Amino acid sequence: MSEHRQKALAYAQEHNPQSLDKMKQIISIPSVSTDPERAGDIRKAAEWLKAELTALDMDRVEIFPTPRHPIVYAEDLSAGKDKPTVLIYGHYDVQPEDPVDEWDSDPFIPTEKGENLYARGATDMKGQIIACFSAIDAIRQTGDLPVNVKFLIEGEEEIGGSYIETFIKENQDLLACDFFLNPDTGMQAPDMPTVTYALRGIAYFELRVQGPKQDMHSGSFGGAIHNPAQVMADLLAGLHDKKGRVTLPGFYDRVKPLDDDEREELSKLPIGDEFYLEQGGVKALFGEEGFTAVERTGARPTLEINGLYSGFIGEGQKTVLPAYAMAKVSCRLVADQDPVEVYEQFKTYLTENAPDTVTWELTQMSKDFPSLSDRKSKWIDAYVQAAEKTWGKRPIFKREGGSVPVVVHIQQTLGVDSVNIGFGLPSDNMHGPNEKIHLPTFYKGIEALVHFFFNL
Ligand code: BES
Ligand code: MN
Repeated sequence: MSEHRQKALAYAQEHNPQSLDKMKQIISIPSVSTDPERAGDIRKAAEWLKAELTALDMDRVEIFPTPRHPIVYAEDLSAGKDKPTVLIYGHYDVQPEDPVDEWDSDPFIPTEKGENLYARGATDMKGQIIACFSAIDAIRQTGDLPVNVKFLIEGEEEIGGSYIETFIKENQDLLACDFFLNPDTGMQAPDMPTVTYALRGIAYFELRVQGPKQDMHSGSFGGAIHNPAQVMADLLAGLHDKKGRVTLPGFYDRVKPLDDDEREELSKLPIGDEFYLEQGGVKALFGEEGFTAVERTGARPTLEINGLYSGFIGEGQKTVLPAYAMAKVSCRLVADQDPVEVYEQFKTYLTENAPDTVTWELTQMSKDFPSLSDRKSKWIDAYVQAAEKTWGKRPIFKREGGSVPVVVHIQQTLGVDSVNIGFGLPSDNMHGPNEKIHLPTFYKGIEALVHFFFNL
């Protein structure tokens, strides 16, 4: 091991308390991207990052405004032209903190309990941004950077229709790199380093079913006027068949079948039914017949109801025939599905199945393509070796059911591949109440990144 690498690792370890403190600072800013009232906090988070990247001694640090939330960019190309350039991704926005009553501590006051730090955004993904900063800092404080570094940190990952696609198209020279490092995925367990080689795409919809022109007395009019909540329930129920398959016409036409080799590999992953039963605390699993849970969540497309609303949901009773019903529905997509085609399929389904007693309206929000990455690139090898040094184990290779929309834009527009890694755990409650980050894994992550940057 080079002397510089050893010094950097020691520096990183000694500075774990500082890394923790930085994470607490950024987590305390409630940068919820979907909430217009938090626009000021979004700005504050971007400014915080700018200051931090400036303190990291990057050569250029800039905030690029967008029609919605700004993008933070930084670069340090001091390693020189004969060294590779890594474009490190991050998103500083977070999901809403609701249901707020179910948190054991304030979502935006980072709270340490045992080995975990609790707060919204801890694992998704402010902790991972700080891990990258700390690794670069440790290398920097003990010598020269062995690679050229660029940072691209957006504020719109958690909401549909992010501006990042346009930004990448318009700034191809600025973002030119040898590969993309996406630290927005995770690890299967604290002793199981993980490389994610596929991310699902997503098509997100709001469906509105309109019945009578206003809420009506359910006694006087029920029986004569079709209840839109009833219609919605029928329509949603019809979206899966008895075999757990999605019924949208043509939904599976483009889905690439899993080849036997990959099925074999996925079957060896230490992620069986018990994992899902335990994470969910459910009695039994559900899903498409003929596939394992790992296959269903990574390599097969799905359809989920994310939210439902109609009529009276207050305390007690109110006898009402609601004027409308609303549902938020999303489909996770795999290669080679197209999110806009899925929108057309949904409209066809509604045209064919909605009764003429109501009207409906379907709007699309997210329309993001799935991505697949090369499992054998030299960049992946560099991470595999870094993980072996850090955890003493070869990483597992898995497909992720969630989405990171930027990856496919980088692949298509910049023509480079993405290394998807991260230090969040399935038990970190991403998007849910009591989100947390496992601190020992966070510190190991910094170490792994130091190795990784040297390996490059
Ligand atoms: N970090 C997640 C993606 C992820 C989820 C990685 C689970 C590993 C495990 C990311 O921030 C995210 O949640 N993305 C959204 C994107 C959507 C809003 C377009 C998602 O997947 O729901
Ligand atoms: Mn997220």
